[in-house]
Amino acid sequence: MTGRSSFLIVANRLPVDRTIDPDGTASWRRSPGGLVTAIAPVMQRRHGAWAGWHGAPDEKLEPFEQDGMNLIPVALSAEEVELYYEGFSNATLWPLYHDAVAPPVYHRSMWDAYRTVNERFAAAAAEIAEEGAVVWVQDYQLQLVPSMLRKLRPDLRIGFFLHIPFPPVELFWRLPWRKDLVEGLLGADLVGFQLPGGASNFRRLCRRLLGLPYKGNEIFLDDRVVRTQAFPISVDFGQLDSLVREPHIVARAKEIRSELGEPEHVLLGVDRLDYTKGIGQRLEGFGELLKDGRLRTGEAVFVQIATPSRERVDEYRRLRDDIELQVGRINGEHATLGYQPVWYFHQSYNQEELAALYLAADVMVVTPLRDGMNLVAKEYISCHHDLNGALVLSEFAGAADELRQAYLVNPYDVEDVKRQMLAAMRATPHELARRMRTMRRRVATYDVDRWASEFLTALESPASEPATRHSA
Ligand code: ADP
Ligand code: F6P
Repeated sequence: MTGRSSFLIVANRLPVDRTIDPDGTASWRRSPGGLVTAIAPVMQRRHGAWAGWHGAPDEKLEPFEQDGMNLIPVALSAEEVELYYEGFSNATLWPLYHDAVAPPVYHRSMWDAYRTVNERFAAAAAEIAEEGAVVWVQDYQLQLVPSMLRKLRPDLRIGFFLHIPFPPVELFWRLPWRKDLVEGLLGADLVGFQLPGGASNFRRLCRRLLGLPYKGNEIFLDDRVVRTQAFPISVDFGQLDSLVREPHIVARAKEIRSELGEPEHVLLGVDRLDYTKGIGQRLEGFGELLKDGRLRTGEAVFVQIATPSRERVDEYRRLRDDIELQVGRINGEHATLGYQPVWYFHQSYNQEELAALYLAADVMVVTPLRDGMNLVAKEYISCHHDLNGALVLSEFAGAADELRQAYLVNPYDVEDVKRQMLAAMRATPHELARRMRTMRRRVATYDVDRWASEFLTALESPASEPATRHSA
């Protein structure tokens, strides 16, 4: 990568993670999570650069090119990884923004590191962006970057997109640094959220915290207008749809079913191992269905793929122990020689293997307690051109706003989870096809390219005059 860029993504992570093997050899692996899934195809189709952390502490790397993307590594020290990434991002903001389903921690040292690292990202962006460039800042790890960057480079067009929920005012209010975070975001010209509810939480907060008036989508500052809007993120439908039609993926899906012992029903969960994902709740439901005798021995298997995530954060460590204990219990109580009810994998897979798993699964079980969107749900839909397959989906996932034909569940209600999993397993092919067809139409129409182009079009279109002061 040489020179400056007219289009720049700034995200905590690069799409690839640097890993050092025990023998000291360094290699690159795809980074986990929905942000990378969504942004990578967008970047591959647009010329631009992507600044982000490369996943290894204490290592400074030069810009490089990979899979058609210009990548600019931003270095973090081991202490910053602990305080900014594991600390303020993932032990304070992550739980707080997800309805405080785990208790958030509030430490000044973490906040200081968050500010320092945000300054570094802003400085990197200011250096790379050419005059008048569009800079698109991503997610909760970098909420101070918009205002820091605007101070350094007022000529830029700055967008921000939050991939996770934006919490209600009452929850956000707990943050000792609430004013700084809101002012940080207001440095953007456009602040995007997954759902309209997140955008309206943010506008209400700006009024209550800073006394700023708003009208419709626009918040009025003294000298500028900040637009706020929902842009539900999506997946590369076309790419997944073609991939699952390839003979080797179809063959692998058949092979997976055979390796699982040809059960009548294959249920599947695919998540980062995160306490927001409701993995324990779905396993509890499945275990009870076996215990109640509503599922016969051998009738159904549950495959749970749980990608390792944020493993040094206490809550994640505890979660892993809990889930592994739960899997052991269900298998201990219900397995027979030749039948294993739960298949659990604490591993990452490549996209082809995941696509084959989606294709092989009769029921995809997505039960987060809170989730900004959940791309796994949309990936599953994209992989079922056969119109076979059912989606059990939490009402608390952003995706539930669009995928109304899923078997919607309240993950806090174990009876509801059981009922909907059973309904999905017992549905007729006609019923499955009816639901799947409508959901596929939605994901095909509103795919990740549409998401990106709607955001970028809104970012580049002029906002109202700031002089027009409105009272809310
Ligand atoms: P989040 O961003 O919170 O992780 P999403 O469901 O929006 O949740 O996105 C998760 C992304 O990570 C999806 O694209 C999914 O395919 C991918 N993913 C999840 N589990 C695995 C895994 N075990 N191996 C590889 N990719 C995975
Ligand atoms: O939007 C969800 C998200 O937190 C992304 O910001 C992040 O890149 C991804 O999940 C995975 O998390 P992490 O980067 O902490 O591994």
